[in-house]
Amino acid sequence: MATGTPRSPQKNIRSNAESVLLSYPGKKSVEEVLATPPGIFEYAPTIGSNLRKRLYFAENLETLAHLAQDNNVCGKVRLVYIDPPYATQTVFHSRTLSHAYEDVFECAEYLEFIRERLILLHRILADDGSIYIHLDAKMVFHVKLLMDEIFGLSNFRNCITRKKSNPKNYTRNQFGNISDYILFYTKSSQYVWNKQCEPWTEERAREYQYVEPETGRRYMKVPIHAPGVRNGETGKQWRGMMPPLGKHWQFLPSTLDELDAKGEIYWSKNGNPRRKVYLDENHGVSVQDIWLDYRDAHNQMAHITGYPTEKNINLLKRIIEASSNVGDIVLDCFAGSGTTLVAADMLGRAWIGSDNSPEALRTMLHRFQHGTKPMGDFVGVQTYKQKVKALSLFDEELPQAVKNDKTHIIQGFNLFADPKLGGLLTLDETSAHDKQEIKTVEKVRKTG
Ligand SMILES: C[S@@+](CC[C@H](N)C(=O)[O-])C[C@H]1O[C@@H](n2cnc3c(N)ncnc32)[C@H](O)[C@@H]1O
Repeated sequence: MATGTPRSPQKNIRSNAESVLLSYPGKKSVEEVLATPPGIFEYAPTIGSNLRKRLYFAENLETLAHLAQDNNVCGKVRLVYIDPPYATQTVFHSRTLSHAYEDVFECAEYLEFIRERLILLHRILADDGSIYIHLDAKMVFHVKLLMDEIFGLSNFRNCITRKKSNPKNYTRNQFGNISDYILFYTKSSQYVWNKQCEPWTEERAREYQYVEPETGRRYMKVPIHAPGVRNGETGKQWRGMMPPLGKHWQFLPSTLDELDAKGEIYWSKNGNPRRKVYLDENHGVSVQDIWLDYRDAHNQMAHITGYPTEKNINLLKRIIEASSNVGDIVLDCFAGSGTTLVAADMLGRAWIGSDNSPEALRTMLHRFQHGTKPMGDFVGVQTYKQKVKALSLFDEELPQAVKNDKTHIIQGFNLFADPKLGGLLTLDETSAHDKQEIKTVEKVRKTG
């Protein structure tokens, strides 16, 4: 393992890095972006609605400019997750072959499209808020530089690597591409953080190889010193011993005395102290920045909406649980099939979603009312049961995926629609189309 001590103060690093700016044609000033005119919307509350659940059928730049002027929202959003287009040069269709959205911007145009929204999101986010941006390898490095400009390099927390699919049988002369990335930034150094842990596996628990004879508790031994010289108490003698060269005690000598009195210090035959860390006091293994368990919903045969690029709802639940509390506002302005909004609702958060695709709105309204459908409903002749049976012979992770199949009905939200996109009337029409489409899917299922 590499050892080293952080350089201090951090300030120098920050100011140097923040003078690195990405330059491209068409880059507006921050003032110009913040002056974006807010959208004007038609509005329809649903039964029992409150303004803490809002869905916008609108171009999201206008939605964000409108929210930036709303005192109930601006500076109060605790968490933003966005999964924007990735500059793939692709036109996306749903599983029922309806046009969903186009991802056709190229480099500079794409970057400015993202940057304008990030500037407004920075404005809307609470001072202790967090933002997660989901991208793939093509643009993640460019957007990282934009994020450093807007949020500050010192507020960069993680670049999470997610395994998005099973291995691909690539015919191209390159490695299979099964990962994408989530950039995690906060608005400041004080932010909401709920540590996430994964349950112990028997294999990891084996690290706790010692058993305390008096109590039967399993424990492991860890050093009580850490790298770095300190001039205070932790750099001085404890029990007649100095910390090893270049190191300091992890705890104040008085705390070490308390731990020793409780029997939580192990003394080797040579008189070297180590701290006992007990298995039963650990909530599990802390989550790291490589996430293998959140392949996209349609890669897991889970329940889905049929909308393209729909994300795994458990991925969103992890992010929401880590970076917000019950009652907080969660915002996704590239809402797609509404995965973030449903996950937020399930976890007792308020939410705001926006999308400019009629197909996305149709999908979300259907999902809020009826939940998701088994994958098999979208693949024609093969029934879901048959599909599960066939796959379970080969895919050992399937039972987990099936277990995740859940529906969650949402009522009591507010719908805002931009008249320039056809307004609420378009959504009425798409709902009628939705009913028709459900019948068609039912028919396919019955004949299957
Ligand atoms: C990758 S998809 C999001 C999928 C979503 N995370 C899910 O789980 O279903 C991107 C979405 O952004 C929407 N979108 C793209 N440009 C937009 C814009 N300017 N305003 C609002 N929505 C936009 C698209 O219609 C699409 O639904």
